Amino acid sequence: MTLSKPTHRPKRPFFSSGPCAKRPGWHPEIFQSALLGRSHRAAELRARLQEVITRSHNLLGIPEGWRVGIVPASDTGAVEMVLWALGGQRGIDVLSFESFSSVWAADLRDTLKLDDVRVLSAPYGELPDLSQIDWSRDVMLTWNGTTSGVCIPSGGVIPLHHEGLVICDATSAAFAMDLPWDRLDIVTWSWQKALGGEAAHGMVALSPRAVARLEEPSPRPLPKIFRLTGKNGLNEAIFRGDTINTPSMLCVEDALDGLRWADAIGGLPVLQQRARRNLAAVTDWVSQRDWIAFLSEKEETRSWTSICLKIVAPWFVALSDKKKAEAVKFLTHIVAEEEAGYDLASYRDAPPGLRIWGGATVETDDIEALLPWLDWACARTQEVFEQ
Ligand SMILES: Cc1ncc(COP(=O)(O)O)c(C=O)c1O
Repeated sequence: MTLSKPTHRPKRPFFSSGPCAKRPGWHPEIFQSALLGRSHRAAELRARLQEVITRSHNLLGIPEGWRVGIVPASDTGAVEMVLWALGGQRGIDVLSFESFSSVWAADLRDTLKLDDVRVLSAPYGELPDLSQIDWSRDVMLTWNGTTSGVCIPSGGVIPLHHEGLVICDATSAAFAMDLPWDRLDIVTWSWQKALGGEAAHGMVALSPRAVARLEEPSPRPLPKIFRLTGKNGLNEAIFRGDTINTPSMLCVEDALDGLRWADAIGGLPVLQQRARRNLAAVTDWVSQRDWIAFLSEKEETRSWTSICLKIVAPWFVALSDKKKAEAVKFLTHIVAEEEAGYDLASYRDAPPGLRIWGGATVETDDIEALLPWLDWACARTQEVFEQ
């Protein structure tokens, strides 16, 4: 099958699942207002950091009484500082169903070598059996598996009253999905995802129960970069913008730009609508094709941020794993060469396939303009790889 090459290209061919597309209208001139070459401890600069905290708190609908802080090393730093501080205080269940969640499981089981870890696993495209979670223990879950396009279907899976702490990596869910704050205790995310910020520091939100637990003695000494508490309990200054180490004020300015844009267009409901519309465009296209399908077969667990797709054409399925990976590389390369879409290959550890970021910073028109290019590229890839 040969398809003629489409002529219409996405205006912004940016579909990476991280760092994600900038917001529509973003321009480097936003950095003109950045306070550069100054100490981040000065009042005006700390105020910018505080604004990131306050806007994130409000935009995400985080309850009063929670602490929101800016922490080193993006989401990875935020998750690991929590796991290192709390891991071993009590037994922990951890969900492992794609690349990032399996890293958290490996951290707890293999690196920290905790005595009492239960890893609940599932292959790419599925969720572990959530009914197996023991909520009297601590629980580490990833809300949206960025590398498999599978998300927790609803906050209702977490009991309102749970003895353990629920730690949630919400990197690719925050600013796109409803997070059940009344059922979560620790939530982390990074700047480089749904609002399209530059990658830099990360964010952590703590419920009052989480603060109380963090103030208990940690099972191990922590490096400075992981320390949220000191001799007198929680280090409150961190939650007022006094970061543990030096942040990039360029990245802070960019994070603020994304948050201000999100507020200006109507906040979380509008961010969610935009992302859901993007998934709807992809769903409509997939339903009319026989060469491609969602990695998440269950509709209720299908992500509308990291939209992960598998190639199911018989010629592709018949290829060896190595050839499949080469075919995906070829397909995504020719789309990128045409400047019709960048960063569309599935994550390096995931099954070979395609991934389209559908978060709110991506315009539905651009997704719709991309899709015919994928049809064209698939047909060309078939010509080269079919055996
Ligand atoms: C679910 C999840 N957790 C953690 C990370 C790591 O985030 P970062 O590289 O911002 O630390 C990512 C990055 O894509 C992610 O998607």
